[in-house]
Amino acid sequence: MNLTSSAKERLLRNYGPWALVTGASSGIGLELAKQIASAGFNVVIHGRNQEQLTHLLHELKTTYTVDVKIIVADLTEAGGVEQLILKTQHLPIGLFIASAGLGTSGKFIDNSLHTEINMLRINCEALMMLTHYFSQRFCDQKRGGIIVLSSMVAFQGVPFSAHYAATKAYVQTLAEGLAEEVKPYHVDVLAAAPGPVNTKFAKRANMQMNMALSPQQIAVPILNALGRKTTVFPGMLTKVLVYSLQTVPRWAKIKIMKRVMGGMTKHHVKQN
Ligand SMILES: NC(=O)c1ccc[n+]([C@@H]2O[C@H](COP(=O)([O-])OP(=O)(O)OC[C@H]3O[C@@H](n4cnc5c(N)ncnc54)[C@H](OP(=O)(O)O)[C@@H]3O)[C@@H](O)[C@H]2O)c1
Repeated sequence: MNLTSSAKERLLRNYGPWALVTGASSGIGLELAKQIASAGFNVVIHGRNQEQLTHLLHELKTTYTVDVKIIVADLTEAGGVEQLILKTQHLPIGLFIASAGLGTSGKFIDNSLHTEINMLRINCEALMMLTHYFSQRFCDQKRGGIIVLSSMVAFQGVPFSAHYAATKAYVQTLAEGLAEEVKPYHVDVLAAAPGPVNTKFAKRANMQMNMALSPQQIAVPILNALGRKTTVFPGMLTKVLVYSLQTVPRWAKIKIMKRVMGGMTKHHVKQN
C-alpha cells in the first residue's frame, strides 16, 4: 500500500521537510521511513543495527533522492536519547515518529528484571524524553507531528505479557493527553495502536503470531491518520480484533487476552 499524491503533499506541507524515525532499522519504523521518504521528506533514521540502516540509507537516497542521516544509539544506555537530540537539533524537523520498542512475554515473576527495566527504558522513558523535547520544539515553531507506537494491548491488562501491555498503556495515555495540550500550537499527536504485525518483534518477544498484518498494510493508514485523529487502529485485522471486543467489559477482555496471549506464548508458559 502506498500514499496517494495528495496524502504525500499534505504530510510534507504540514510536517516537512525533515523527519526523525526511531526504530527505523526494522519492521514498522522501517516501512514508515520508506513511506515518508516517498512523500519527499528528508529522514533521520535511527536504530542499533548499522548495517540495516546503511542499506536503508542507500535505498531511500537512490529511490526518492532525499537526504538521509543515520543515528546509531542504544536507547537503554545513558546518553542514547541525548545523542538523538544533539544530532538532530540543527535540522528543520517537523515530524517525529517513535517506533523503537520491544516486548516481553511469559509470567512477569519469571522474567528477568534487567530485561523488563530495559523494555521500560525504551518503550516509556526514551519515548517520553524524546516526545517532551519534540513537543517543546514543535510548539515553539507552531507546527509539527508526533506519532508514537502504542498497541491494541494498551487498553486492558494482558496476562503473559503484563508489563509490555503496561508500557503501551503508558504510551497511549501520554499521547491522548498530550494531543489536547499541543493542539492549540498546531501540533498533532497520534497514537498508532496496531494488532499483530509481522516484524522481528514476535521473535524478540518470544511470541508466536498465527495471524499478523504486514508493516506495508499499516504504515499508510497510520500516516493518513496523523492530524485527523488521536488514535488509529491500522489495518483490517486490527479493526476486527479491537471492535469485536469493544462492548466486552474490561474484566472479560483481560480473560480473553489471557487465552490469546497464553496461546501465543504456550511454548514457554505453563499456565497453572
Ligand atoms: N509487531 C507487532 O505486532 C506490534 C504491534 C503493536 C505495536 N508494536 C510496536 O511497534 C514498534 C515497532 O516494533 P516492530 O514490530 O517494528 O519491531 P522490530 O521489527 O523488532 O523493530 C524494533 C525497532 O526498535 C529498535 N530497538 C529495539 N531495541 C532498541 C534499543 N535498545 N535501542 C534502540 N533501538 C532499539 C530496533 O533496532 P535494531 O533492530 O537496530 O536493534 C528496531 O529498529 C514497537 O514499539 C512495538 O512495541 C508492534
